Amino acid sequence: MGEIVIQIDGKEVKAKEDMTVLEAAKSVGINIPTVCYDGRLEPYGGCRICSVEVETRGRKNIVVACVYPVEKNLIVRTRTEKVDKIRKVLLELFLAHAPDSPILQELAREYGADKNRFEKETSFCILCGLCVRYCAEVKKKNAVGFIDRGTRREISFIPEIAAKECWNCKECFPLCPTEALQAAYVFTEALTSSSPNFPESEK
Ligand code: SF4
Ligand code: FES
Repeated sequence: MGEIVIQIDGKEVKAKEDMTVLEAAKSVGINIPTVCYDGRLEPYGGCRICSVEVETRGRKNIVVACVYPVEKNLIVRTRTEKVDKIRKVLLELFLAHAPDSPILQELAREYGADKNRFEKETSFCILCGLCVRYCAEVKKKNAVGFIDRGTRREISFIPEIAAKECWNCKECFPLCPTEALQAAYVFTEALTSSSPNFPESEK
């Protein structure tokens, strides 16, 4: 795989042709915040917190760094006024779902996001998809998935699969940036507590 040179925040960065902007930045220690990114999973581009400004052939655009591929002579700016504003508003929207999330609170401090700007949402889930994708791509179990569409979109455990697979796995729990996942599991567990597959200690 060939190497190309791009510029990130004024610094020349050598990147492999198949890298994303996020990977190229990471390779030289430049931090771009992420919420839905996990290096073990296929790029998703769901949360948009990693938005950056790119300039190519004189044109500036805001793109999602975790899915945007590097290209020769690309100029990347990770902290412009516009970029910071986008991150701030996104964080305020996420905090309406999960105001006590430590990950979101830490980012909120950095970008001056106000957790009370938007009306509280009933769901804790910010639809980052980490749990769904981890279970499907790494564990190959599909025990948790998205249900409904639009504003009603939510994650849900599939009780029949969860009863067999989840009680001794739970590897997705620490991936969740909010408490939504654990709560959904506890709920599923309660629904299926009569199932012989949930051991006594887990009920
Ligand atoms: S439950 Fe957590 S990990 Fe799963 S999609 Fe929602 S916020 Fe992301
Ligand atoms: S980390 Fe890039 S879109 Fe979520």
